[in-house]
Amino acid sequence: MPRKVQERLDAADEILRALRSGEVDAIVASGPDGDRVYTLKGADEAYRLMIQNMGEGALTIAPDGLILFSNEKLASMLATPHERVIGSSFHNFIVPEDAGIFSALLTQKLAAGAKCEVRLKANGGRLIPVALSANRLKSDGVHCFCVIVADLTDQKRNEEVLHALSARLLRLQDEDRRRIARGLHNGAFQHLAALEFKLTLVGQDASAELPPAARRNLTECLELVGECCQDLGNLAYLIQPPLLEEQGLGSALRAYVNGYNRRLGPQISIDLPRRMGRLPAHVETTLFRVAQEALTNIERHSGSATAEIRFLRKPGELLLEIADHGCGISRKTLKQLNEGTGLSGIGIAGMRERIRQLGGLIKIYSSSRGTRVQVNLPTKSTRLGRHPA
Ligand SMILES: Nc1ncnc2c1ncn2[C@@H]1O[C@H](COP(=O)(O)OP(=O)(O)OP(=O)(O)O)[C@@H](O)[C@H]1O
Ligand SMILES: [Mg+2]
Repeated sequence: MPRKVQERLDAADEILRALRSGEVDAIVASGPDGDRVYTLKGADEAYRLMIQNMGEGALTIAPDGLILFSNEKLASMLATPHERVIGSSFHNFIVPEDAGIFSALLTQKLAAGAKCEVRLKANGGRLIPVALSANRLKSDGVHCFCVIVADLTDQKRNEEVLHALSARLLRLQDEDRRRIARGLHNGAFQHLAALEFKLTLVGQDASAELPPAARRNLTECLELVGECCQDLGNLAYLIQPPLLEEQGLGSALRAYVNGYNRRLGPQISIDLPRRMGRLPAHVETTLFRVAQEALTNIERHSGSATAEIRFLRKPGELLLEIADHGCGISRKTLKQLNEGTGLSGIGIAGMRERIRQLGGLIKIYSSSRGTRVQVNLPTKSTRLGRHPA
């Protein structure tokens, strides 16, 4: 074998050995413009050890996605031999639907680091949800990216379990409310109504013979029974308005707002389409509960004298807005609410979870001039058609 060929083979052998042992300090990429050499400076022993032993995947890539360096963790995540990971394009490991997200990440200003979530496809087809955080590096005048890959499989699984649990809790809560409201209406409310009727009869039959004190007591009893009926009716209505099941969201919202406006709280105006039509029962319940929770918040926290509810059916989506003109939510609380990290209450968290289960979005806009809760539900979502598990 000519010496030159032997030398080249030896050199190739050496590169392969270095690749396998993770000792690569440079990689040569051949392209239409000739060979490009990427050196991995600063890859000394301590640095290598730290990167190799960390719990996350780590890699260095060229701007076109060529993997110049990867640690063992990334190779094991991808179930691909380490030496095959290095020198491949990182784009090949990203599921096609998420390719745009990754490309966008590399075009962001990366001075302070940029983050995104994508799915990687491991050898064998397993999909791995990961969080990528990238930083731009400049080495020998050549731009590269340092990328840390955190496996989110466990986190996503836990989130799914939590979402399923919240969905069950919210559904049980709705069923309980329905049961309690029905129980109040068919039980205590009916008994009180009968009692009121009988007391009225007693009053009529015996009114002439009753001493004045007994007559006064009887009148007071009748008044008390009347108040109990009123309180129970209001309570049953707050728990589960009967109109929601019977006549749908529009009638239930109108009746609820009328009840609200009879009290001393904020005056609510309501803007609904003239012909609301019916939606699946669980969608109507969800939208009603969101409006109810938002109105409770307006009364408790906003100090606003007025508020508006608006409901629109647009092509492909439903829109519900509840707005007030009160003090607004502080910037800190709003950030916590939007990130789901707030510890104050469960009202907004519950609204968000209900809407999420239907594949919709809830946004809260707030300033010193008031707060607006905006809900968008896609009507084409398959989830609108069936009750979430
Ligand atoms: N319309 C509003 N105007 C002003 N602040 C609001 C408004 N809605 C919500 N907030 C603020 O956001 C916080 C969180 O609201 P959320 O409904 O999640 O909890 P809560 O009302 O405090 O308690 P819970 O609803 O569990 O009884 C409130 O404590 C309040 O500070
Ligand atoms: Mg609340």
